Amino acid sequence: MRHLMNPLDFTVEELDRLFDLANDIENDMPKYAHACAGKKLATCFYEPSTRTRLSFEAAMLNLGGSVLGFSDANSSSAAKGESVSDTIRIISCYADICAMRHPKEGAPMVAAEKSGIPVINAGDGGHQHPTQTLTDLLTIRSLRGHLDHLTIGLCGDLKFGRTVHSLINALSRYEGMRFIFISPDELRIPDYITEMLRAKDIPYEEVIRLEDKMPELDILYMTRVQKERFFNEEDYIRLKDFYILDRKKMQHAPQDMLVLHPLPRVNEISTDVDDDPRAVYFKQAQYGVYVRMALILTLLQIQP
Ligand code: CP
Repeated sequence: MRHLMNPLDFTVEELDRLFDLANDIENDMPKYAHACAGKKLATCFYEPSTRTRLSFEAAMLNLGGSVLGFSDANSSSAAKGESVSDTIRIISCYADICAMRHPKEGAPMVAAEKSGIPVINAGDGGHQHPTQTLTDLLTIRSLRGHLDHLTIGLCGDLKFGRTVHSLINALSRYEGMRFIFISPDELRIPDYITEMLRAKDIPYEEVIRLEDKMPELDILYMTRVQKERFFNEEDYIRLKDFYILDRKKMQHAPQDMLVLHPLPRVNEISTDVDDDPRAVYFKQAQYGVYVRMALILTLLQIQP
């Protein structure tokens, strides 16, 4: 039985097969409409979510399966002190596969160790968000045609943003990658990431100004300042609007640059960018459904 805790749990070749399957699903949804008939997905969300939980549920429903779960720790027996290990043993009696989001780093891994069903990490604290990474990779591969030889700028909260950490890990396995980290000093990328890049001889730069680097980018990955991970409100208020991408700044960008964002956004992308054909963050959310359908099929070893 396989779980998904980290995007690196899949080899590059396995990811290619997963993305081929996701693109086939995109092109021929009716072929998959009954692939998971009789199967159940449990969504155990101890932290808020719109996209991840609902796209998992949409994915299972699109596959002809059913969903059950909770969207708030306080409506589960976690509120009475039940451990994640006990909860997953119970969920294993009710469902065939589980997507779990938890504020504590490593909680889905603890669950996987006691689980009788595949567990998918749907985001654990500031650590990893592998299915967002699968979504990001599928979006880039589908819209750029390849995942290698790209210059990617990651902008905003690079310290707490788990989607950023997962994505860099995953992209570091492809040839010819170059990273530009754009953040205020307080929200710099963690040292363990830059150490990993140096060990692999992958070029990166750390800068503060977004406009200066935009002309060099193939991909601009914007992120929200993660209010929920700050220890004090004052720091959050000072940093929350540090970057605001707007139509004027987009004039610095190449015509084929793509703007991605895992969403939700707050102020970091002005709504006047939404109509720019380079802004693909809503399309990205749609790819999230296809890739989660492909992931459910893969982990349940179902071949339609
Ligand atoms: N991208 C993402 O994880 O969104 P949600 O928090 O709404 O699931």
